[in-house]
Amino acid sequence: MDSLAHVERIQCTAEFPVTQRLHVPTMEEYRRQYDLSIKRPGKFWAEVAADFTWQSPLPADESAILSYNFDLNDGPIEVQFLKGVKTNISYNLLDRIIARGSGERIAYFWEGNELGEQKSITYSELRLEVVRFANALKRQGVTPGDRVAIYLPVTIELVVAMLACARIGAIHTVVFAGFSSQSLADRMVDARCTVLVTADAAFRGEKFLHIQTIIDEAVAVVLRRALPLKAIILVRHFAASANRNKAAYEATMAAYQSPHQALYLPWDEVVRTDGSDDECEPEWLDAEHPLFILYTSGSTGKPKGVVHTVGGYMLTTALVFKHAFNYVEGDIFFCTADLGWITGHTANVYGALANGATSILFEGIPNYPKPDRLWAIIDGYRANIFYTAPTAVRSLMKYDEKYVLAHPMKELKLLALVGEPINKEAWFWFFRTVGKERCPIVDTYFQTETGAPMIFPVPGPVALKPGSATLPFFGILPVILDENGKEIYGSDSGFLAFKQAWPGIARTVDGNHERFEQTYFAKFPKYYFTGDAAFRDSDGYYWITGRTDDLLNVSGHLLSTAEVESALLNDKRISEVAAVSMPHAIKGQCICVYVVTKNGYIYDDEVEKDLRNLIRKTIGPVATPDLMLAVRGLPKTRSGKIMRRVLGKIARGEQDFGDISTITDETIIDHLIEARMAKSD
Ligand code: WTA
Repeated sequence: MDSLAHVERIQCTAEFPVTQRLHVPTMEEYRRQYDLSIKRPGKFWAEVAADFTWQSPLPADESAILSYNFDLNDGPIEVQFLKGVKTNISYNLLDRIIARGSGERIAYFWEGNELGEQKSITYSELRLEVVRFANALKRQGVTPGDRVAIYLPVTIELVVAMLACARIGAIHTVVFAGFSSQSLADRMVDARCTVLVTADAAFRGEKFLHIQTIIDEAVAVVLRRALPLKAIILVRHFAASANRNKAAYEATMAAYQSPHQALYLPWDEVVRTDGSDDECEPEWLDAEHPLFILYTSGSTGKPKGVVHTVGGYMLTTALVFKHAFNYVEGDIFFCTADLGWITGHTANVYGALANGATSILFEGIPNYPKPDRLWAIIDGYRANIFYTAPTAVRSLMKYDEKYVLAHPMKELKLLALVGEPINKEAWFWFFRTVGKERCPIVDTYFQTETGAPMIFPVPGPVALKPGSATLPFFGILPVILDENGKEIYGSDSGFLAFKQAWPGIARTVDGNHERFEQTYFAKFPKYYFTGDAAFRDSDGYYWITGRTDDLLNVSGHLLSTAEVESALLNDKRISEVAAVSMPHAIKGQCICVYVVTKNGYIYDDEVEKDLRNLIRKTIGPVATPDLMLAVRGLPKTRSGKIMRRVLGKIARGEQDFGDISTITDETIIDHLIEARMAKSD
């Protein structure tokens, strides 16, 4: 993996004074807490746990707090955190915060798809909604351990449904409300869901989404597969919406007759508001009880239902939220992630509420009605922490700067990123244009399976390097492995793995523990393998260079997609690129890149020549692409990840794309195939 070592290292080590009180003021303090968390995890996590409510005492012996086996030779893979100790996460997120006197604090501001569509809810109000809905679920026969599917746009009801499940020990599985009926059905069948919580319809930007049609198609499939579905609880979201196109669609809605009408129960009818349902004793659950299942597709195969637990996930998300954003009381947190993604679960719901934070939930999309929507939200709600994905940054960079500059965003104190490696251009644009050079950018690296960010610069003491997720957080021991699973020390590249367990790591793949073991623990015994490649520089900073299954092997040189893409993105005319491999008679493999230009730029021979030169100059002639395709967009998953698998197949002229149910824009596929055909010899 030697060639990964020439991944671009940017020599910018700005240190940012965060003007507020820092939780970790110095590097010495960071190192002290880090060492404690690695050497004495039991003691470290018992101190974190002391802030939370447990129904039984924590073990006195610190070695009994966290135990695990990461070695398949020693038996099944297993992690246990506070096993036997009882708690309830909805109690800790709501009742505990209210008991501290914060009941009147806003838990969420909700901003709908349409301008001016706003709501807010305090901690006390949220608790009441949760308790009432928990009672409603119980009336539908939901008991601890039952699975509840949630398919809703980003709404307060979605959070209420999640926490109501948590209150009664039901396991929620949120399915992103942009997925097809088939994806929803597959997930419901796999998780054996007995209740589904959904909505009638919604708008995403200009696009009308008649959710009920999708639900009815999914229900037909799940009933055929003999799933005992008891009820579909329907939020009348569309009915309450302020969409200016509303009238045009009301007729469609009124005319619609569901073939499964008997299963539907309107939310506002199952929820009792006469006072009779206003209490619901939390179900006191073992810390190891499952909290939720979240499906992650991975690049191949059928989606995996990743299982997280009540106690470990609670403490990990709470601690990470506090430290990654240096959260202090009064902060207003805005994260653009959909709640159907791990970032939504961890940052917007569990991490935020565990800290008593005020957050903004946004139902719409960044460029509707104009490309200044996010900046207007930050300004309007005086948000001071903004968390988003590199793909969003790159897509917003395409527009004129005036959209950003129209909104002063004076309160912003911190920016954060997640999801992919960020290229230098995008990093500096975000830093200068959005953050006005006064906000640190916290690049957080994590996975659905790891529950919460693992590697990120603790704001304040840790100097930033654009493009690097920097140093591990407390409790996390990353290692770089070579192909034989041997640890590499010092500055080098290889496979990124974790050597010790932490409380928030996933425990299993639902219903298939063997798949969990094989996916994450078989390739490198004794380690959790992330599937990512990384470079560690001489300061011990980690640079995630992409998925290992995306590596490009050209003439025996291994190149990561990130380094090729990041080199090309230095050209100001380019907004997005994706590099994939194609077979080549001589080199073994060669590189094909898909290029999207910024608004106002035309892709011509001149641009292509410049891009080739740029690659030669930044990486070397070995990385010069054999094929360059100008396209209008890239296929992306709901969480904004480029679907390189699909791009690879198109580049190679293959037609069988496998499971593409997670794609956001299906029409892009034909466009890409056409662009490819036009360049066939
Ligand atoms: C990638 C998303 C570089 C990585 C939270 C990982 C990143 C996969 C970063 C998990 C980052 C996530 N820098 N790459 N800061 N964050 N990734 O499960 O390849 O949707 O394995 O979770 O995203 O994606 P997932």
